[in-house]
Amino acid sequence: MLLLCIQGSPRKDGNTATLTSIFAEEAENMGIEVEFINITDKNIFPCIECGTCEEKGFCPIEDDMQKIYSLFVKADFVLIGTPMFFYAPPAQLKALIDRSQALWARRYIFKLSDPGRLWRKGFMIALGATKGKNLFEGANLIAKYFFDAVGAEYLGFLGYRKIEKKGDINKHPKAIDEVREKARELLVPYLKRHKVLFVCTENACRSQMAYAFARAYLGNRLDIKSAGTNPADKIDPMVIEVMAEKDIDVLYLKPQSIKEAVSNWTPDLVISMGCDDECSNIFSSPVEKWDLKDPRGKSLSFMRQIRDEIEIKIKERFKDY
Ligand SMILES: Cc1cc2nc3c(=O)[nH]c(=O)nc-3n(C[C@H](O)[C@H](O)[C@H](O)COP(=O)(O)O)c2cc1C
Repeated sequence: MLLLCIQGSPRKDGNTATLTSIFAEEAENMGIEVEFINITDKNIFPCIECGTCEEKGFCPIEDDMQKIYSLFVKADFVLIGTPMFFYAPPAQLKALIDRSQALWARRYIFKLSDPGRLWRKGFMIALGATKGKNLFEGANLIAKYFFDAVGAEYLGFLGYRKIEKKGDINKHPKAIDEVREKARELLVPYLKRHKVLFVCTENACRSQMAYAFARAYLGNRLDIKSAGTNPADKIDPMVIEVMAEKDIDVLYLKPQSIKEAVSNWTPDLVISMGCDDECSNIFSSPVEKWDLKDPRGKSLSFMRQIRDEIEIKIKERFKDY
């Protein structure tokens, strides 16, 4: 379970940072893994409307946004915290929002489905200095379309008015308690899921396909990760191709080591795709072996065959969950 928190104010220790950190802290207290982004720490170039995402399905600008695309895809829940700057998010956060157009294009132009999108949810915390009734209208509309682009169901927002100077939020009678309570309310349902780790050697083919199918079909019941005993630098391009034939988008999935996967997370079940006996020795959790042949370096049709075998096995193995 990954919570991605995006602190959108340029004032790093300001009011938005306070509330976003409280949400993150509450999640960590619940044992949830949190990735916290301070927008000013990131180098995110504004969208230049070059059209590459709509023509080719990716953003060519090489900056911190490339890693953030992968985080969106990995996240189960996305929180944005934003102050109102002229009734909208600040320019730094707006650049990130505009660059999410690349994910929008993959979904709506290339008709690919991010496997996490069925269960991913999004929420906003917003605040501003004035007290007008319409203060959050613009941001709410932006959030609605942003969360759709990143494949999250938008659950709404908490908004706080008359918050101006640094520290004002600490004097608010309810804000801090409300944010804590909201974090618990929104995140508790995710904790009920059974934790499953798919393992293969490079985490570039079999375990990534298993992860994607399991997430797409069972993400509401399973908290899923995948990892490799010897992770590759990137996912196999043939996997991207054969999964796209199933309308499933795996472009932004990244191989990771077992150590990384289990650093803050203990699986209830480990499924080995067919790597050597190494797996059985690493885990205290039960290990199940699927003995699928390694498609790496083989033909596209063999990759398809393994893909189909994995899809059937996922549906069969977890049908009673
Ligand atoms: C450039 C700029 C524009 C702002 N525009 C608005 C606005 O349109 N409406 C509003 O209520 N507050 C506005 N504010 C005030 C901030 O929203 C407010 O000070 C907020 O508490 C800042 O949050 P932070 O501490 O997280 O940065 C603006 C502040 C700045 C610096």
